[in-house]
Amino acid sequence: MRYLVTSALPYANGKLHVGHVAGAYLPADIFVRFLRLKGEDVIYICGTDEHGTPISISADNEGVSPAEVVKRYHDSILAAFTGIGIEFDNFSGTAREEHYTLSQRFFCDLNKNGYIQSKSTLQFYCDHDKRFLPDRYVEGICPKCGAGGARGDQCDKCGNIYDTTTLKEPKCKICGNTPIIRDTKHWFLHLNSFTERLKDWISSKTYWKENVRNFMLNFLEQGLIERSITRDLSWGVPVPLPEAEGKVLYVWFDAPIGYISSTVEWAKNLGQPERWKDYWLSPDTRLIHFIGKDNIIFHALIWPAVLMGQNIPYVLPYDIPANEFMNLEGEKISTSKNWAIWVDEFIQDFDGEYLRYYLAANAPEKQDADFGLKDFQQKVNGELNNVLGNLANRVFAFAGKHFEGVIEAVELDDMSREYWAEAKEIFGGVAAAYREYQVKRNTKSIMDIARLGNRYFDERKPWAAIKSEPQHVKETLWLCAKLLNLVAVALSPVLPKAMQRLRQMMGLPEITRWEDANLAEAVHLQNVSALFCKIEDVQIEKQLAKLHSAAAAAAPKEYEPVKDSITYEDFSKLDLRIARILEAAPVPKTDKLMHLKVDLGFETRELVAGIAESYKAEDLVGKVVTMLVNLQPRKIRGIVSNGMILAAHSEGKISLVQPEGGEPGSTIQ
Ligand code: 2FM
Ligand code: ZN
Repeated sequence: MRYLVTSALPYANGKLHVGHVAGAYLPADIFVRFLRLKGEDVIYICGTDEHGTPISISADNEGVSPAEVVKRYHDSILAAFTGIGIEFDNFSGTAREEHYTLSQRFFCDLNKNGYIQSKSTLQFYCDHDKRFLPDRYVEGICPKCGAGGARGDQCDKCGNIYDTTTLKEPKCKICGNTPIIRDTKHWFLHLNSFTERLKDWISSKTYWKENVRNFMLNFLEQGLIERSITRDLSWGVPVPLPEAEGKVLYVWFDAPIGYISSTVEWAKNLGQPERWKDYWLSPDTRLIHFIGKDNIIFHALIWPAVLMGQNIPYVLPYDIPANEFMNLEGEKISTSKNWAIWVDEFIQDFDGEYLRYYLAANAPEKQDADFGLKDFQQKVNGELNNVLGNLANRVFAFAGKHFEGVIEAVELDDMSREYWAEAKEIFGGVAAAYREYQVKRNTKSIMDIARLGNRYFDERKPWAAIKSEPQHVKETLWLCAKLLNLVAVALSPVLPKAMQRLRQMMGLPEITRWEDANLAEAVHLQNVSALFCKIEDVQIEKQLAKLHSAAAAAAPKEYEPVKDSITYEDFSKLDLRIARILEAAPVPKTDKLMHLKVDLGFETRELVAGIAESYKAEDLVGKVVTMLVNLQPRKIRGIVSNGMILAAHSEGKISLVQPEGGEPGSTIQ
């Protein structure tokens, strides 16, 4: 048996956020780490998804090539993965040559086998930009739900797919003009030809997650329709047909092929170029795709059909554990609204393993989960620190103080054996749950083992027994050491670094096998230090403030008029002029008022301005300012104020509006 594990290829069009990690990457990384401990033959394959209209649009907007955008995000995404200990055997990208060749071969096989047909279709075309507008290049109002911002063939709001030409009020994303509808030729995959095979295949997948299986059955029930697998774009894998110039494969057609091309790359880099076949072409392989729920249709239906239509007998997915979504502070994560926790930034402020722990303990396995910063703090402080860290700390401190850091392997009494049996039972369930991707359940079970350890330590009261019953204390410490080691091995797929550290402190070698959980020999403590640190309230407050201010900065600013609108005639009644300040003196017994004398070119005037808190009198003399001169005179503190100078008011600070040029008396319009 071999395992070929993949995670959805992230688009090379943005940074990695916690929702991505929780859905498709951390669960896979944990699964792979567990399988390795079990001695299974497993490789973990991924890479960036480097095609599609969002990438072309970003490149257009930035005035750079799509390859440049792709390179930047590929590197940033990989660095973020590395930062949180997600380790792939290979991390490739779909804009590489090997991938192009393979994708074209996939297309050709399907075509030769009669599963692809071309036909002419209607498509939006921008007369201004002289190009077709596939997918996200056009935006309008969803014909199904009426939401704005709907793209060419799909609405993100209601999830509906529709005929492009039914989109209401379409606008070209490049120039904003209304596109016209034109005829173009595209190639369609006849999914219906695979209906029976897909039905047989899915009926054998009784062990699949319900959401995935139901989705598939539902889709098959409705009847499969043909799907266009080409686009009028320049960035992508060229359609390998002479009559298809200027057309590329649809991103969703070539992306999953990236799982294979990345494996081919892995084998090449290993110096064993044929090795990929051991995984992709062997019926003994369990191919497991970790994805988010938005990717189900592509992995559970279209991709298997594409594989079935090949001349080479590729292995079909064994399982597709799709996770639900992770929200953030009760709101949907949104890149465009900048409502997200970006992995690269977060791990500057917090240990990456704390993030792993939280995302595992709060995994969106059966339903959507919520990332709450306070909840994150609570889990790190209340579980990692107060339960596991506390157990390690008290056991190590006690052994250090009374036994010079040596915990002997001794015979256990009945009570200790009962505790051990209970812990072992939980531990047994952990292995089974890892195989079923139940990471959330496992973090809880493993913490329960640590809780058991704390309860046992309290009950045994070694601090009271140390003088009178040293053997009793030795037994206590020995069981605690065994429990800590059990936790270290069981939790190591989730927290690989921290659990290796725990083992190091116990003087034990690196965890390499699941069987390392059975501690048989004495423990010699070394370099003992705190396993975890608490997160302070102020760190969380800072993080929350950062989140909200980033979202506020990204929010579209709406113009909010301060006053009712006026006509031009109203405006033209204002006689605004340039004035130079000749003299300035604070009005006695006031904080705010300044008595000014100004030169208006045609005369000098006196007025009172409320600027004394922001300007000193001596700094005002000589300043050229703007002034409303036809305001009715008013007496202020006994001084006749004959006009008003203009100033900006912002958060209590007053700044004079100072023109760049113009002589005193010049009009301002
Ligand atoms: O939804 C996404 O982020 C896609 N880039 C996933 C592709 S998965 C696979 F097919 F490559
Ligand atoms: Zn246009």
